[in-house]
Amino acid sequence: MTSKKLKNNFPIFLENPNLVYLDNSATTQKPKKVLESLMNFYKETNANIHRGSCKIADNATNSYEEVRKKIANFINAKPQEIIFTSGTTDSLNISSEIIYYNALVEENSTIAVPYNAHHSLSLPFRRFFQNQIFYHKADEINSAIDIALITHVSNVTGEITNPNLIDAKIKVLDCAQSINKNLVDVTKLGVDFIAFSAHKMYGPTGIGVLWVKEDILSRCVPTRLGGGIVQKVDKNDLNFLDYPNAYESGTPNIAGVIGLGAAIDFLSEINFVQYLNDEITLKKYLLDKLKNFSSLDIFTDDHSPVGIVSVAHKKIHAHDIATYLGSKDICVRAGNHCAQILHNEILKVPATFRVSLALYNDQSDIDKLIEVLEEAIVFFS
Ligand SMILES: Cc1ncc(COP(=O)(O)O)c(C=O)c1O
Repeated sequence: MTSKKLKNNFPIFLENPNLVYLDNSATTQKPKKVLESLMNFYKETNANIHRGSCKIADNATNSYEEVRKKIANFINAKPQEIIFTSGTTDSLNISSEIIYYNALVEENSTIAVPYNAHHSLSLPFRRFFQNQIFYHKADEINSAIDIALITHVSNVTGEITNPNLIDAKIKVLDCAQSINKNLVDVTKLGVDFIAFSAHKMYGPTGIGVLWVKEDILSRCVPTRLGGGIVQKVDKNDLNFLDYPNAYESGTPNIAGVIGLGAAIDFLSEINFVQYLNDEITLKKYLLDKLKNFSSLDIFTDDHSPVGIVSVAHKKIHAHDIATYLGSKDICVRAGNHCAQILHNEILKVPATFRVSLALYNDQSDIDKLIEVLEEAIVFFS
């Protein structure tokens, strides 16, 4: 399917025909299938899961658990390794808690954090392992360490890190920007924890996934306690349910899970080999146009197929450019993209504006961006 045809699956573009949406690393737009699944869930089967005794509750429970299987299938995992969370940030926080409270590493363990880490990856771990953190470039780790935090795809430059090249007792992989490119196969990545969000893969906000290797999950106890996760509680003791349900305390985001299932259905119709080739072509088209501006510094990994390109003008602030573009219905993101350390230490600019591509973008989006970018530069010069 061409990007133009695909765009027709996204009601927001029908409602806003002039919208040029190039902020897909922040969140992607939602196809009709996902929107309908949310509406249908609330219309047809809204009930709490796992403890109801009526038909709609059974249906809700079955649909929820079916999505667990779909996700497992999508990333080549086992359903019992899939924990629903509220998003990547939540998944990474829970990973840090599981590792710390289950003493999977020793108190004084060293933890390696890449410069390109999103704050959601680094900060939860800094809380527990404050004095033993070292920052590094992705290819700089050559000796075994205790915990490696790894950014699968950088949300600033699109750089891909192969976690197999890093030697660590525990590896935590942030897949926020790789999941929607279908780059996540847990049997190939050789890691222990994986985190991602539904809203960056055409699904709803407020729902995400934490995958934990069964070897580890089977040795741990949950860190978020509450209703729905215990078999038996008395005044002195408690028994947890089996994983993964023991890790989903309280009423989960059932509608979100259903919407995520619809996003997976949508993605399973995409030919990713073709799509990534198209994204490489579109990224090259964008880069060729941007390189005509001598006033711009461009930060992207040319070798990565992922269309994430951050840009700084030598004189005009990224926020001014993004605001100008935004006033003409062109959405990009400005700032440090929750990667302040990368901006300060490596890119050496305080802020960039970021263009990030998704499967509905095409050359006409880039042409409009470039046209208005030229206007913005004249306006602020
Ligand atoms: C690489 C990366 N990690 C983590 C996150 C956090 O994701 P969320 O805000 O969905 O929790 C983002 C969001 O932009 C990201 O790009």
